[in-house]
Amino acid sequence: MKNLEIVRSTFKEKFETEGSVYFSPGRINLIGEHTDYNGGFVLPGAVDKGMLIELKPNGTDKIRAYAIDLKDYSEFGLNEEDKPAEGWAKYIFGVVRELAKRGGKTGGFDTVFTGDVPLGAGMSSSAALESAYAYALNDIYSLGIDKKELVKVGQMTEHNYVGVNCGIMDQFASIFGKEGHLIKLDCSNMEFEYVPFNPKGYKVVLLDSVVKHALVGSPYNERRLSCERVAKELNKKYPEVEFVCQANFDQLNSVKDLVNQEDFNRAEYAVGEAERLRNACEAMTKGDFETVGKMMYGTHWGMSKLYEVSCEELDFLATVAEEAGVSGSRIMGGGFGGCTINVVKEELYDSFIAKAKKEFAEKYGHEPKVYDVVIGDGSRKII
Ligand code: GLA
Repeated sequence: MKNLEIVRSTFKEKFETEGSVYFSPGRINLIGEHTDYNGGFVLPGAVDKGMLIELKPNGTDKIRAYAIDLKDYSEFGLNEEDKPAEGWAKYIFGVVRELAKRGGKTGGFDTVFTGDVPLGAGMSSSAALESAYAYALNDIYSLGIDKKELVKVGQMTEHNYVGVNCGIMDQFASIFGKEGHLIKLDCSNMEFEYVPFNPKGYKVVLLDSVVKHALVGSPYNERRLSCERVAKELNKKYPEVEFVCQANFDQLNSVKDLVNQEDFNRAEYAVGEAERLRNACEAMTKGDFETVGKMMYGTHWGMSKLYEVSCEELDFLATVAEEAGVSGSRIMGGGFGGCTINVVKEELYDSFIAKAKKEFAEKYGHEPKVYDVVIGDGSRKII
């Protein structure tokens, strides 16, 4: 496994002993963006890239952590008042605190970590980190917390210690991922099924604009609030509708005058996205990736024009994809930078990548990075 040697040798060098090693992946999401906190479905899959951590209880009440990629060290305690100073260490601290809130008491431990999920690319490097610690600490300390609750530990770390009021998708995919499968997840109740993902004759590829993507301090939380305001109006009229993704367009239009235009646009995107996801899932069962692709373009322009979480570079990449005959292309993840996910016929792959690299570099001065998607397993112990 990539990076295993680095993790093992760094741990030994820093702490003069050996610990246990765990891996948690990042994720892609085929379709269903910004639907998770809106009570809708998502269709993510874990990837073969992720966070690799080594850790071992140290018999104290201190956590000593070394971030290999950042070459930075942090030491902090287990209690609420012991918050670390380093931003990256808040992810580990948050997980420890969220486990404790669920009765999962850990002791102090030594740890190192590294990752090969590109940071800020919309592939959920932070969820991979949270999931790795949630999964590993649950295992090492025999906490007996079930996997769905571990997912919430990661999500609540974001809410309470990082400041992003994210949905459940990223952590769910990181914990529950399954090789060769996407996860059709109903985010209103966390019920899910694995959907075999084998797009015969197509490749799935990410193009990373390398435009910085950071949801902290971004308008992510504002999008969520917009949708919640509309959901509140919907709920007064239609008690069965708790979240915007549970409404249809007629219901949404009936509250149009009660909400401001911006909030309405956000909700219009979300209701449309719920519909696109349903269409994409149905098409996928027939192996019809052309229809899946059409839905993806719909997502892209909805995210760009109505939800307003795209950016110039990603609109450019989606446009280049369309010109190159790519079946589907769209911004992936929370937005404000990062990658497009592309479903492209095998025979068009080379010409598409060449065109995208050339035209993007001409306009923005650097090529996009290219990642071929391999759907892998979720969180697990390595050694
Ligand atoms: C981020 C969040 C997820 C989800 C996506 C958008 O990745 O962490 O919960 O809302 O954005 O689909």
